Amino acid sequence: MTYQDGFETLAIHAGQEPDPVTGAVVPPIYQVSTYKQDGVGGLRSGYEYSRSANPTRTALEQCLAALEGAPRALAFASGMAAEDCLLRTVCSPGDRVLIPDDAYGGTYRLFARVFTGWGLDHDVVQVSDVAAVRERLAAVRTAMVWVESPTNPLLGIADIRALAGAAHEAGALLVVDNTFASPYLQQPLALGADVVVHSTTKYLGGHSDVVGGALVVADPELAERLAFTQNATGGVAGPFDSWLTLRGVKTLAARMDRHCRNAMRVAQMLAEHPAVTEVLYPGLPSHPGHKTAQEQMRAFGGMVSFRLLAGEEAAVRVCGRTRLFTLGESLGGVESLIEHPGRMTHASVNGSPLEVPGDLIRLSVGIEDCDDLLDDLRQALSDS
Ligand SMILES: Cc1ncc(COP(=O)(O)O)c(C=O)c1O
Repeated sequence: MTYQDGFETLAIHAGQEPDPVTGAVVPPIYQVSTYKQDGVGGLRSGYEYSRSANPTRTALEQCLAALEGAPRALAFASGMAAEDCLLRTVCSPGDRVLIPDDAYGGTYRLFARVFTGWGLDHDVVQVSDVAAVRERLAAVRTAMVWVESPTNPLLGIADIRALAGAAHEAGALLVVDNTFASPYLQQPLALGADVVVHSTTKYLGGHSDVVGGALVVADPELAERLAFTQNATGGVAGPFDSWLTLRGVKTLAARMDRHCRNAMRVAQMLAEHPAVTEVLYPGLPSHPGHKTAQEQMRAFGGMVSFRLLAGEEAAVRVCGRTRLFTLGESLGGVESLIEHPGRMTHASVNGSPLEVPGDLIRLSVGIEDCDDLLDDLRQALSDS
């Protein structure tokens, strides 16, 4: 009999059979670089050298693949290492890619400062506007459409199913950075995307204690080519990092439910606050992507951005005044974080088409007692 296990079951069990030697219920940390061969080329279970494969990393990769409903996932040392591997494998010098008008600053920097030098051209397009994407695809031969949804930090929503159709008609791949949603809230491959990118540093790891990345792929042949590049270039996740990430993944669903609930209350409070001009949260009915988000996401996530009436300097001051929201980069951990994207995570897009407003504050709403979080924000905003 075959079972169709649910998401929470897969998060705890996929790729994580008890250890065949000891029965350990958690995959051990195989802190090892090489493996004894039974005669030359006689590999035990396929393990040869830990850049090529490592059992703890395999456990994480199998779990991530199961959570995204994919045949294969690859785990990397960081989200950026995953992105780099993908671009090197799928694109060639002379190709052109469409990139979103709002994205993680480091992703934009990779395109603008690293891959431009390699000969990869990019066009910036508003990915919440499917007609605009179609128009660009009709005008220029394009190898890949890259989207985030929700986007970092403006929480824009891309219609993944419609974009997959548009990309495929034009012979392009659709890549979705699913970091903000996590596979619990959104499964882009089921909506037609070809590749999912994760910074596992964020919700998948969930505890602000590990940096990692992943690629999850629908096509086994593409997965094989990516695995070749990964082994050839070496940006792999180490065994301890893989183990920490897998430990985080086990509680992803429970954490995300709480992140979403807290974020909704924070967004609603901010929407009524006199110091705030705009709240960017796809869970609010006023958000332009609300309907699409409702269709393609289970809930609306833990990230909330907002703009301050009093401008940039006031926004910087608010970031320094919170007690529980820790001022810091990154997101997706159990603890709440606050940051000023223009001067922190997105400083690398200043002066580019992706520049973010100076009066913008981004919150990663954690899973603390939400009343405490609301009080903290109210006091930080009190004389703004
Ligand atoms: C949406 C998104 N994608 C990718 C990355 C890069 O991931 P990493 O920092 O793990 O390299 C980040 C990092 O903040 C991110 O927010």
